[in-house]
Amino acid sequence: MDINKINSDEYSLADFSAYKGDDLFDVREPFWAFMQDAIAKKYMVYGNPISTAPRSEFQVYDRYLDKDRNFLNFCSYNYLGYSCHPDVIKTVQDTVGKYGTGAVSAPLLSGYYDLSKQLEESIARFKGKEAAVVFPTGYGANLGVLSCLLKPGDVAVMDILSHASIYDGARLAGADVKVFSHNNAEHLDTVLKNLKNPRRAIVCIEGIYSMDGDLVNLPDIVAVCKKYGTRILLDEAHATLIFGKNGRGVAEHFGLEDEIDLTIGTFSKSFGAIGGFVTGEQKIISYIRMFARAYVFSCAMAPHTAAGILKVLDLYEHDKSNRDQLWENTHYMLNALKEVGLDTGQTESQVIPVIVGHDHRLREISKRIHEKGLYTGVVTYPAVSNKRTRLRLSMSSNHTKEQMDTCLTIIKEAFDAVK
Ligand SMILES: Cc1ncc(COP(=O)(O)O)c(C=O)c1O
Repeated sequence: MDINKINSDEYSLADFSAYKGDDLFDVREPFWAFMQDAIAKKYMVYGNPISTAPRSEFQVYDRYLDKDRNFLNFCSYNYLGYSCHPDVIKTVQDTVGKYGTGAVSAPLLSGYYDLSKQLEESIARFKGKEAAVVFPTGYGANLGVLSCLLKPGDVAVMDILSHASIYDGARLAGADVKVFSHNNAEHLDTVLKNLKNPRRAIVCIEGIYSMDGDLVNLPDIVAVCKKYGTRILLDEAHATLIFGKNGRGVAEHFGLEDEIDLTIGTFSKSFGAIGGFVTGEQKIISYIRMFARAYVFSCAMAPHTAAGILKVLDLYEHDKSNRDQLWENTHYMLNALKEVGLDTGQTESQVIPVIVGHDHRLREISKRIHEKGLYTGVVTYPAVSNKRTRLRLSMSSNHTKEQMDTCLTIIKEAFDAVK
């Protein structure tokens, strides 16, 4: 790597993650040169400050024009529009007036408020489980739960497409990590059969896979886990409030909720807020509350965030018409993308990948869609392999037909222009 003349077209982020100089900080020089070249070529579409609410159109700072401008928003996880719901906003505002701006302490000390307890009880009730613990983030929930349950020598068995927080939780525990091919129950069977003690393992799966939008093959995977007596952790981050008659997620959709040992969820997606949770049997939740370091050693969720989420639960229990609208929008967009011949993978949900291929093509395509005023997820390594990069559309109940049509036109033109 000649750090004086780095051409960003010749590198991907993966090259820098693997780079190891003599000094710990050596990586900064080639990475800085890469970034400057990528910015000059207008490839840098990450980390632009947003200056309005995450509605279906929002204002984003355009570093190339040095000003804020309007973008179509197909990037936020505001699937049901709750982050901008007037009743939720009013509840949050009122709660800030009473409780101040933050929890200002870890939960086992003085960061646990009446609203925190209410939220945990409501989430447990909503999910039909004995108990819940609320974490500051969904990432922290996976990290905390897996790292406190698994010990060195134990095994985390995970779908190869599992979220980084699942991998990181297992690594932090010092557990062995074994992967099975995506959604492949037969391969899972082989992995579990070869374990010394499958009862000291946990199988980690996701309701909706976050980069592909497809559903877990839950019936077959549950059957294999039962055969070996292996515990199951199901991450329903993207599925909560979307799947199942009552919105409890993909386990409810398949009628298999009683077979799941621990369920992870996040408040950062359909709930429109921030935070994560785990639900399960009361006794194991009580252990997690004392030993999950991402819970114990981190400041608790702000009371006003808890109040906003409680309001969302209340609104949702009385009216799910925004979910119906989300499904209508999802089907409309997905059919439109397929009709013009774009590859949307195996998605069955509001998470719609539009597969691009190599990282270099993604850069050119993302530059073009940004110029045209479309904001989508631009997903490359380390979230996916740099040969299967993609635009990722996050659908919302708030998208209009006109916005979806414009989104399609912009994407189609960019894909046609960059072969
Ligand atoms: C499957 C999955 N689990 C966990 C998380 C982390 O959640 P949070 O963003 O709330 O930390 C995400 C976030 O995208 C996710 O997709």
